[in-house]
Amino acid sequence: MNEAVARAHLDRLWSRGREFLGCGHAIMGGAMTWVSERNLVSAISNAGGFGVIATGSMSPALLSAEIAATKQKTDRPFGVNVITMHPELMALIEICLDHKVGHVVLAGGIPPGAAIQRVRQGGAKAMCFAPALVIARKLVKSGADAIIIEGMEAGGHTGPVSTSVLAQEILPAIREVPVFVAGGIGRGEAILGYLEMGAAGVQLGSRFVCATESIAHPKFKQAFIRAAARDAVLSVQLDPRFPVIPVRALANAATKRFLEAQRNVIDRVDRGELDQKAAQLEIEHFWAGALRRAVIEGDVENGSVMAGQSVGMVNEEQPTRVIIDELVGQAVAALSAREASFGEAGRGR
Ligand SMILES: Cc1cc2nc3c(=O)[nH]c(=O)nc-3n(C[C@H](O)[C@H](O)[C@H](O)COP(=O)(O)O)c2cc1C
Repeated sequence: MNEAVARAHLDRLWSRGREFLGCGHAIMGGAMTWVSERNLVSAISNAGGFGVIATGSMSPALLSAEIAATKQKTDRPFGVNVITMHPELMALIEICLDHKVGHVVLAGGIPPGAAIQRVRQGGAKAMCFAPALVIARKLVKSGADAIIIEGMEAGGHTGPVSTSVLAQEILPAIREVPVFVAGGIGRGEAILGYLEMGAAGVQLGSRFVCATESIAHPKFKQAFIRAAARDAVLSVQLDPRFPVIPVRALANAATKRFLEAQRNVIDRVDRGELDQKAAQLEIEHFWAGALRRAVIEGDVENGSVMAGQSVGMVNEEQPTRVIIDELVGQAVAALSAREASFGEAGRGR
């Protein structure tokens, strides 16, 4: 297959995702709190992908300004990711609708039906995360316009099941709406693989952290460039009485101190010095402000350097357009090479 034919084939493979998102390549830039703001989001959309603003750290007023600023930098479509636990969830959705944002990603838990309905009534498409097939089916019934599945390889808050298993369980079963695959994707060959399994497109986070346009602190980017896949570890829970939210981040001084902090809390509870509720709060508060400390202030030892296992494939700072062209190029090359090897096998007969 020559390159032009391979490209046309790839475009057919992700045509459902391209149409749904309204962009050239069905590659979503996964929203990353503090990182996915106007600069990176517009750069991803301008390069033919689909940028998504992260609102984890934003009030409705800040989001409104961010959407307006992003529109100054791109006339291509982009989305907004809202976290369902956000105390101002419905107000954030209204801001998206006021600005005529076409796609709202409802993340961080199963979204309330009212949120999905409001997004759709307001004229936008609702994209929802499904951590299991039964939930994907429920979300489709509740009106989700698309599903995102994200495996445990992903950076940040993550579920217990790997991307490859979720993809096998969910892609063949959910055909009513487009399904996008996230978690552990660092190269175009993997994108091609998921598209051939039935994905409409993909979502990548870690791969975009070191984009030239990303405002992440140079030390945050350096930590990514230095890290290997095995350095991106899950938060550890020491005691079943005190749940810890699973988060994947680079191991550093803070992840070590988190273990000591848990041990200290557990000892105090066992000695009767602290009640269960106060103990749980202390554990949860440990990471307050930690992502900002790492991304914005560059304190990569005492902050949270959220990163997926695909961090091992981040080797340098590159313009967003180069990252996207590289990913697309790898998928195209894989298709071309495969066709060539079919030809050789045919000649061997
Ligand atoms: C630094 C960082 C921050 C993230 N913040 C968010 C967030 O605020 N909301 C969200 O839905 N996902 C968040 N994610 C997950 C990404 O959107 C994306 O789904 C994930 O990075 C995909 O896996 P990958 O890193 O292997 O590409 C974050 C990931 C990283 C690395």
